[in-house]
Amino acid sequence: MKIIRDTQRNCARMAAEEYRKLLGENPHCVLGLATGSTPEMLYEELVALCKAGKLSFKDVTTYNLDEYVGLDGSHPQSYRYFMDSHLFNLVDIDKTRTHVPCGVGVTDEMAAHYDDEIKQAGGVDLQLLGIGPNGHIGFNEPGTPWDAVTHIVPLTDATRQANKRFFNSIDEVPEKAVSMGIKTVMQSRRIILMAFGKNKAQAVKGMIEGRIDNSVPASILQLHPDCTVYIDDDAASML
Ligand code: F6R
Repeated sequence: MKIIRDTQRNCARMAAEEYRKLLGENPHCVLGLATGSTPEMLYEELVALCKAGKLSFKDVTTYNLDEYVGLDGSHPQSYRYFMDSHLFNLVDIDKTRTHVPCGVGVTDEMAAHYDDEIKQAGGVDLQLLGIGPNGHIGFNEPGTPWDAVTHIVPLTDATRQANKRFFNSIDEVPEKAVSMGIKTVMQSRRIILMAFGKNKAQAVKGMIEGRIDNSVPASILQLHPDCTVYIDDDAASML
């Protein structure tokens, strides 16, 4: 694991530079993307680079990590809506090449098919991750088996509480999500994980210094051959 510690803005800039290089070398690459507060600045930087003509998403294919069960892409809190409004609608990407797991009418079998689609596309070249305060990656909550592929997950109370800031009330926060599994994530060739703020400090410590144990799902990243972690001082405060 390579650890880079700087302000959130500088981390976003450095990570954006990694994307600029990758897309320059491999314009047809496959990106695994994340939603939430963590990647927002990175997406701002990517949009700025694209507008400045320094990077193009024209031939890029994307697969997002997860989606809430029951929300379709027109729902403002759906992850499809998030991706459209924070990145896809603002860059030169071909929307037909962007994939977010389907959260409506989904079964475990349909969910697992997402892994086949990723394989058929050649596998993920660079997967972006945030981390939950409980150490989750994607929506792989503590206790998720390491060999999980894309599946339907019940969200823990802690995760629903953490995400309620985006909804009017806790009752509106979906109880389930579809998420790439830990195996799906670990199969990507390269990983960038970003974490900012004090509420991530415990999870960051478990991920980097803890035992590899599925009580902290992100700890498995210690075994990934090419994982870079970008953190600010607050997220690094318990290391
Ligand atoms: C989002 C995702 C989640 C988030 C995590 C952190 O697609 O898979 O694992 O990365 O919950 O969320 P934020 O960034 O909102 O703190």
